[in-house]
Amino acid sequence: MAKNVPSSLLLAAMVLALSAATTNGHNITAILDSFPEYSIYNSYMTQTKVADEVNSRETVTCLVLPNAAMSALAARHSLAAIKNALRILVLLDYYDPQKLHDIPQGTTLTTTLYQTTGNAPGNQGFVNITDVRGGRVAFGPASPGSKLASDYTKSVRQMPYNISVLEISSPIVFPGLLDAPSAADTNLTALLEKAGCRTFASLIASSGMLKNFQASMDKGLTLFAPNDEAFKADGVPDLNSLSSADLVTLLQYHALSSYNPKDTLKSANHPISTMATGSAGKFDLTVSAQGDDVTLHTGVDSSRVANTILDDTPVCILTVDSVLLPVELFGLPPAPAPAPSSLTPSPSPSDLAPAPSLNSSEAPSPIPLSPPAPPTSTPEGSPRGASDKADEKNSSGAAKLRSIAMLTAVAAAALWAAVI
Ligand SMILES: *[C@@H]1O[C@H](CO)[C@@H](O)[C@H](O)[C@H]1NC(C)=O
Ligand SMILES: *[C@@H]1O[C@H](CO)[C@@H](O)[C@H](O)[C@H]1NC(C)=O
Ligand SMILES: *[C@@H]1O[C@H](CO)[C@@H](O)[C@H](O)[C@H]1NC(C)=O
Ligand SMILES: *[C@@H]1O[C@H](CO)[C@@H](O)[C@H](O)[C@H]1NC(C)=O
Ligand SMILES: *[C@@H]1O[C@H](CO)[C@@H](O)[C@H](O)[C@H]1NC(C)=O
Ligand SMILES: *[C@@H]1O[C@H](CO)[C@@H](O)[C@H](O)[C@H]1NC(C)=O
Repeated sequence: MAKNVPSSLLLAAMVLALSAATTNGHNITAILDSFPEYSIYNSYMTQTKVADEVNSRETVTCLVLPNAAMSALAARHSLAAIKNALRILVLLDYYDPQKLHDIPQGTTLTTTLYQTTGNAPGNQGFVNITDVRGGRVAFGPASPGSKLASDYTKSVRQMPYNISVLEISSPIVFPGLLDAPSAADTNLTALLEKAGCRTFASLIASSGMLKNFQASMDKGLTLFAPNDEAFKADGVPDLNSLSSADLVTLLQYHALSSYNPKDTLKSANHPISTMATGSAGKFDLTVSAQGDDVTLHTGVDSSRVANTILDDTPVCILTVDSVLLPVELFGLPPAPAPAPSSLTPSPSPSDLAPAPSLNSSEAPSPIPLSPPAPPTSTPEGSPRGASDKADEKNSSGAAKLRSIAMLTAVAAAALWAAVI
């Protein structure tokens, strides 16, 4: 079936398929669907995408709030605040009623999803569970002396030892938990500067992209903001040498026009489109995840997703450790190869080294399904549409791209020949 697809593409597809295998067979939304008394909690779990975070965990306990308590919480707070309130109700351990009543020494601190945001000060990402006298089990913030104001009321559902759902009487709140910045009153520039992304902030302002990003904040926006060190790293091309069109494309490549918080990115099982992606595709990113770490791959480089600096549905702003370099702009080695001593009419394979690896998005697409044009066609007949941008920017680079395109055509022709 896929006999004329280069094996490197198959490999890339397999890598993607593997990295997407994060499902653990539970779905908190589906579990709660049959309990109308938790429908408001369930709806907020979906809106805030905390449900994705729960489903990506192997072992988890959800403390659910009945509708009255949940609507009281929701009425007074932004979605960003509600998201934090929901995260602290997700324990990263399995507690069924039996285990709750058998806590050694009658009291313990347990990690919650809120801890995984990296924003929890001190031990605030933990929850105190205490077996109070009289068989009552109570929950409260982990900070010493906190009131344990939230009572375990009943068991809802258990799937040992993957997910347990328990009802509690009221939210677990500590001072500051509900002060999450909200998108509505966010000054994007100030927020980025505060998070150590001054260069990125100034680039989006000077390029005019700030307006576009702000306009997207109503409908859906995810920003990957490289920190200031990222722009100084080795191998980052001189952005001053980019045309303004390419700079805009590069900045658009750091944005998605949809809401994709970190744990939603984790479950992306196909390349994700960025704002730079056009109707012809390209300029996409692939995602890999290991534990709580999420890494974005461009085909040229990879970058870890560092911190969440704003998460208010439908806006999410994440810092990244490296500038994301799209292959469509930077697929060539950044250091110019020494100029050939004489003009060679046709490229020899050694001229092409190091050729860019055939990484998902940069694969010269489309793979010709009909016999490809003979490789002797003129460079202008290059099938590599993505080289257009590079062409205007750097003619010697473009020549290399054409060489690669020609080599690809030769390879495709060889493959085609092998198939027939
Ligand atoms: C979880 O269940 C809901 C319906 O209850 C469904 O809409 C959703 O797609 C499911 N999620 C996954 C990841 O299967
Ligand atoms: C939990 O909170 C109670 C009441 O503040 C406190 O006595 C207990 O030591 C706390 N447990 C832990 C493990 O910190
Ligand atoms: C728990 O999760 C594992 C995979 O992590 C799965 O094999 C098992 O069937 C799950 N158990 C239940 C009761 O869903
Ligand atoms: C946003 O913050 C920046 C930097 O702190 C400031 O220069 C700018 O005036 C602010 N914009 C608005 C609309 O308040
Ligand atoms: C274009 O490529 C040449 C040789 O590869 C290099 O010397 C030059 O700096 C490049 N220019 C830009 C704008 O990248
Ligand atoms: C993708 O590109 C990176 C960096 O160029 C490389 O390390 C990696 O091996 C490539 N992966 C595949 C599947 O070609």
